[in-house]
Amino acid sequence: MQIKKLTNTFGAEIIDVNIPNLTDRGDLDTIMEAFLAYQVIVIRNQKLSPVEQKKFSEEFGDLDIHISSKNKHKDHPELLILSNKKINGEWIGATNAGDEWHTDTQYMPIPSKCTMLHALEVPEEGGETAFINTYAAFEALPVSTQNKIRDLKGVNSWNRLKNPRVKIPKQHGDGKSVYDIGHPDVIHPIVRSHPETGRPALYVSPRHTLFVKGMPVKESEELLQELFSVQQNPQIIYTHKWRLGDVLIWDNRCTLHKGMGDIKAPGIRHLHRTLMAGSVPV
Ligand code: SIN
Repeated sequence: MQIKKLTNTFGAEIIDVNIPNLTDRGDLDTIMEAFLAYQVIVIRNQKLSPVEQKKFSEEFGDLDIHISSKNKHKDHPELLILSNKKINGEWIGATNAGDEWHTDTQYMPIPSKCTMLHALEVPEEGGETAFINTYAAFEALPVSTQNKIRDLKGVNSWNRLKNPRVKIPKQHGDGKSVYDIGHPDVIHPIVRSHPETGRPALYVSPRHTLFVKGMPVKESEELLQELFSVQQNPQIIYTHKWRLGDVLIWDNRCTLHKGMGDIKAPGIRHLHRTLMAGSVPV
């Protein structure tokens, strides 16, 4: 197995591995160490069945099931289908998943530890996924801001209708049946300490963080915009151009991500996603 860095600060690709044949504990431990060190890892050239993807995902943690009833694999509800394919005029998966900067399931009391995407079809152009290193975002803040936000909490929501920063994807009409489903908002620290590395990461996102708990609305939005702009500094962003067979795993506790869209027709992007269970952010 070879591990190569993708940027100076985070992201790594792993080659010469065949996931279904990974039985050696030492090799699995090396992959887990790379995941913690690089935050985003991509294992190239795989062809995993849903069962094989679920089995490998379980090396990272128990599987979470997404709260939306839509876009699940019909025989494997732990697998979400991300696809711009239509069959008989119907979309067969989520076309827009992750179109705003976010970290997965930040709207849950116990958000997911990590996410795995497996590329089964990829377009020639477009459809990239971009990642922000949120350890680096925290470190880039002035010390006065780090101190100011250290004990603040964010209110995070699944409901796009409550968040003026984001749009309702066309696929979901007025969005009520998908987003306005009574899922309670949750409160999490704005700076979270990674449970395995102990490093602080900036845990807010434009998609899910509605406001800072207990702060007047205007002040809260100004502070959040300041934090988002530090997160979105291109120097701490890695944009992944998908290759067929990629198995990409990212750590939701210390990264944000965004599906960049703009798939050039007639390109097809078809991926299977699994989510692995995390812990209460502290
Ligand atoms: C996601 O947010 O989980 C998916 C991102 C993507 O489709 O690139």
